Amino acid sequence: MAAVSIFIAGVLALLWFAGGLAGHGVAPLWLKAAEAGLVAALYLLFIRITARRKSASETGGAENADEILVAYATQTGVAEELARHTVKALADGGQAARLADVAALDLAQLQKARMALFIASTTGEGDAPDAAGGFEARMMAAPAALSGLRYAVLALGDSSYADFCGFGRRLDAWLEASGAAALFVRTDVDRGDEAAIAEWFAKLATLGAASGADAPAFETWRLAARRRLNPGSDNAPVFHMCLEPTAALPDWRAGDIAVVRPRNETRAVDDLLLALKLDGGAPVTLRGEKMTLKDALRQRTLPEPGMRAKLAGAGAQGAVDGLQPLAPREYSLASLPADGKAELVIRQLRYPDGRLGVGSGWLTEHAAEGAEIEMRLRANPSFRGPEKDRPMILIGAGSGVAGLRAHMKERAAAGRGRNWLIFGERDPEKDYLFKDEIESWRASAALARLDLCFLEDGVQRLAQDVLREEDSQLHQWLKDGAAIYVSGSRKGLGDGVDAALKEVIGEAALSRLIADNRYRRDVY
Ligand SMILES: Cc1cc2nc3c(=O)[nH]c(=O)nc-3n(C[C@H](O)[C@H](O)[C@H](O)COP(=O)(O)OP(=O)(O)OC[C@H]3O[C@@H](n4cnc5c(N)ncnc54)[C@H](O)[C@@H]3O)c2cc1C
Ligand SMILES: Cc1cc2nc3c(=O)[nH]c(=O)nc-3n(C[C@H](O)[C@H](O)[C@H](O)COP(=O)(O)O)c2cc1C
Repeated sequence: MAAVSIFIAGVLALLWFAGGLAGHGVAPLWLKAAEAGLVAALYLLFIRITARRKSASETGGAENADEILVAYATQTGVAEELARHTVKALADGGQAARLADVAALDLAQLQKARMALFIASTTGEGDAPDAAGGFEARMMAAPAALSGLRYAVLALGDSSYADFCGFGRRLDAWLEASGAAALFVRTDVDRGDEAAIAEWFAKLATLGAASGADAPAFETWRLAARRRLNPGSDNAPVFHMCLEPTAALPDWRAGDIAVVRPRNETRAVDDLLLALKLDGGAPVTLRGEKMTLKDALRQRTLPEPGMRAKLAGAGAQGAVDGLQPLAPREYSLASLPADGKAELVIRQLRYPDGRLGVGSGWLTEHAAEGAEIEMRLRANPSFRGPEKDRPMILIGAGSGVAGLRAHMKERAAAGRGRNWLIFGERDPEKDYLFKDEIESWRASAALARLDLCFLEDGVQRLAQDVLREEDSQLHQWLKDGAAIYVSGSRKGLGDGVDAALKEVIGEAALSRLIADNRYRRDVY
C-alpha cells in the first residue's frame, strides 16, 4: 500500500513538473520542481491521514503493529461501549486504534501489538464473560512471552460481589507475569462509577487521546403508563412500564438495554435530613448544576442509618459531596422502535426490612405516571438477534420475558417463525406474563414451539427440566443451527439452564456454541 502511494505521488509530481515546463510561465525550473515536490508531499499526507482515520474506526480487520489494540470482554455490552469510546478518543487525538473482542485474540496478535488497552468485565461469581472464557482457558493458564507489549486494564465490576473485578484483576496479573509493561495502574470501576471512568480517559490523554471524552448523555423520558402484569400473585409484583421520549425516539434493536438514573424516594431523603438536622431547601451544587439539598440527595447513595454519623457537621454541600452518586440501573428493552415507546418489564424488589429496591421501587411505585425519567438506551451486541435464517431457542423466566419479547417482535416482523419459547413463572392463572401475545404468536406462524413452566400440583416445573425432557428436540434444533438465548435471573434461571445444557449436549458442545455466538445470555 505504501509503495503504491509513493509511486502515485511520484507520477503526480512528474505530471505537474512536465505540465509546468510545457506551459508558457516565466517561473524558473527550481520553482517548478519545488511545486511538484509539494504536490507529491500533499498527496502522501492526505493518504496517511485517511488511512489513520480508517484504521482508528475499524472494528476487526487486519492488524497493524502501529495501532493501539483496544480489546473488550463483555457480558452485557458495557465494556464494548467503553471500548468504542476509547477508540474514538484515541482517533480524535490522532492515534490509530483497533477494536477487538478478547474472544478473538491470539498470542501472535498480542505479540505484534505495541500497545494494548483491555476493558474487561466480570460476571457470574468472579468469572470471565462467556465469550472471553475461552481466552482465559486457552491463553491465561500460564504466562506468555509478552515482554514487547505495553498495556493497561480498565476492569468493570460491582463491589457487592465477593470477587470484585475478578476477571480484570486476573487479566492484569497474567499480563504482568507475561512480562508486559503496565502503562498505568489498573482502573477498577464499581457499578459504572463515572469518576473512575473519567480517570481512565484522563490516563488515555497521556497516550495522545483527545481529552474530555464525554460520558454518554441521558435523555428525558416520560413515564406514560405502568400496569401490574401479575395482579393478585403471591410472587413479587412485576410491572409493564411504557416510557415516551420528550425528544425524537432513538433507534435500538431487540436485546438492547435501557439505562435509568433512579431517584431516592422522598421519605428516605426526609429521614436523612431530619437525622442530620439539615434544611432540604438549602442551595447546593451537583455536577455543576445548582439545586436544593433535597433534590441533590435524591441522586446520591444514601447511608444506612448506622453510617449517618460520618456526615454529621458536614453541612449541606458537604453532605452531598460526601455521598457517592446513585448507580444507574439497567433494564432489558421489551419493545422495538416500531412500538413508538420504550417498554420495560420490572420486578419490584423488596429488602427484608420491607423497603423497596432503589431503582425498581422508584420506577414501579414512587415515580408518578407522567413523571420525567432520566434514561438512555445502549446497544448490547452480545444479546442481539441471530442471522435471520437461524432458528432461535428463547429461554426466560419472570422479568426475563422483557428481552425475549423484543426478540419475538423482531422475528415475527421479519417473518421468521422457527422460534422455540420456553417461559417459566409460578401460577399459570396469575403469573403468565404477556399471555395474550404469547398465545397469538403460538396461534400464528411466529412461534413453532412453546413450553410453559408453572407450578403444577405443588411442583414447580423449570426451564431446565424442559431441556432435559425434550433432549432429542434440543439436539435436533441445534443440529439445524439454532442459537440459544437465555434471559432472567442468573441464580434462578441462568445457572440451572447452563447446568442442564452441559448435561444434555456436553461441555465441549456448549463451548463451541459460545465460540460460534450461538449461546447468549442476558442474566442478572
Ligand atoms: C443487563 C441487565 C438487564 C436487566 N434487566 C432487567 C429487567 O428487564 N427487569 C428487571 O426487573 N430487572 C432487570 N435487571 C436488574 C436491575 O438492573 C436491578 O438490579 C433491579 O431492578 C434491582 O435494583 P434496585 O435498585 O431495585 O435494587 P437495589 O436497591 O440496588 O438492591 C439490590 C439488592 O441489594 C441488596 N440490598 C441493597 N441495599 C440493601 C439494604 N439496605 N438492606 C438489605 N438489602 C439491601 C438487596 O439484596 C437487593 O436485592 C437487569 C440487570 C442487568 C445487569
Ligand atoms: C449476573 C452478574 C454477575 C456479576 N458478577 C460480578 C462479579 O462476580 N464480580 C464483579 O466485580 N462484578 C460482577 N458483576 C458486575 C458487572 O461486572 C458490571 O455490572 C459490569 O459493568 C458489566 O459489564 P458488561 O456489560 O461489559 O458485562 C456482575 C453482574 C451481573 C449482572
